[in-house]
Amino acid sequence: MPDALLPPDQPTPLLGGLSPADFMRRHWQKKPLLIRQAIPGMRAPIRATALRRLAREDDVESRLIWREDGEWAMEHGPFSRLPKASEPDWTLLVQGVDLHDDAIAALRDRFRFVPDARLDDAMISIAGTGGGVGPHVDSYDVFLLQAAGRRRWRISQQKDLELQPDVPLRILQDFRAEEEYVLEPGDMLYLPPQVAHDGVAMDPDCMTISIGFRAPRRAELARGLLEAAADALPGMPATAGERLYRDASQPATATPAALPEALVDEALTAFAAVRLDRALAADFLGAYLSEPKPGVVFEPADADCSPLDADWPQSGTLVLARSTRVLYTGRKLFINGEPAEAPASARLRALADTRRLACAGRAPSEAEREALETWREAGWLHWVPDDAR
Ligand code: SIN
Ligand code: CO
Repeated sequence: MPDALLPPDQPTPLLGGLSPADFMRRHWQKKPLLIRQAIPGMRAPIRATALRRLAREDDVESRLIWREDGEWAMEHGPFSRLPKASEPDWTLLVQGVDLHDDAIAALRDRFRFVPDARLDDAMISIAGTGGGVGPHVDSYDVFLLQAAGRRRWRISQQKDLELQPDVPLRILQDFRAEEEYVLEPGDMLYLPPQVAHDGVAMDPDCMTISIGFRAPRRAELARGLLEAAADALPGMPATAGERLYRDASQPATATPAALPEALVDEALTAFAAVRLDRALAADFLGAYLSEPKPGVVFEPADADCSPLDADWPQSGTLVLARSTRVLYTGRKLFINGEPAEAPASARLRALADTRRLACAGRAPSEAEREALETWREAGWLHWVPDDAR
């Protein structure tokens, strides 16, 4: 069951006594923050053996990074063999653990004071003593939560981000550490994008959880919006009676290979009529950013004997599956990359924001009920009886 959202103005140990509002104002995208005992008395929420098991699966993205004779080496999973915990100088990184484990999904959801549209995933590393991925920068905002063992982080705001050539991973050529911290279980370091960092495991059971936030590239946004505009164009595919290029005043030519200038003008005139507005941008972003991560598979539920039939249940809670992504904008709601059939009513927006919906009380409208049942059958949400909590 998802935890309640953190109130924006309430100071929290998770952010070192800052409220989410203060954190966003002072640190988000601006400067690092070291938080001692963000999660007091933390014990690893997942076992290293479970991560090793995930790294065997081919729908899970994993990487093994190690050093051999002073040289960096990297391999992508799935892995049938991994180094023993007692061996030094290796680290295993497993992406999207929140999509496979409820405890990690619940941990991820503690960071929902940042809009879901920015969330990437919870990546977890385990490492032998000395293991790390080398000094680098990320284009992500990241909360690096120490879950087990100790890790020494060195960070730098240096401007020189030149990379070492001929190395299979992105390692800074000339890393000059400005600050150094040893993180113990429960400690956390927030880093904005482009802050250079290097984390080295100090114990054989080192585990670090990275809650990462993606920032879409401008080119990616522009291309996506143009594709959405192209899909919305009338006349694609061709329709009868649509406007065609006309060149009634084209004179006879002695240079037939030359492209007529009037055709260039026509292409620009046609483009000027393309609809590019806020509604289209919001539709594109809602669908694009709510797409499930690659490899996500939902378990469809039985359509017979649905608890959400015409007699709406007066007990139980609807809970979004941990991999489901929902975004809304105005009256439109997008779930797992698709526009919802029902409008984004107050009830559906509350489900999206809190990731759960108590069934007791006023029954939903027929459109809401149908949408909820469709999502339940697709495995995008589950009905949890009260006694299962
Ligand atoms: C890690 O080694 O767990 C974190 C990798 C990173 O620095 O991004
Ligand atoms: Co990093």
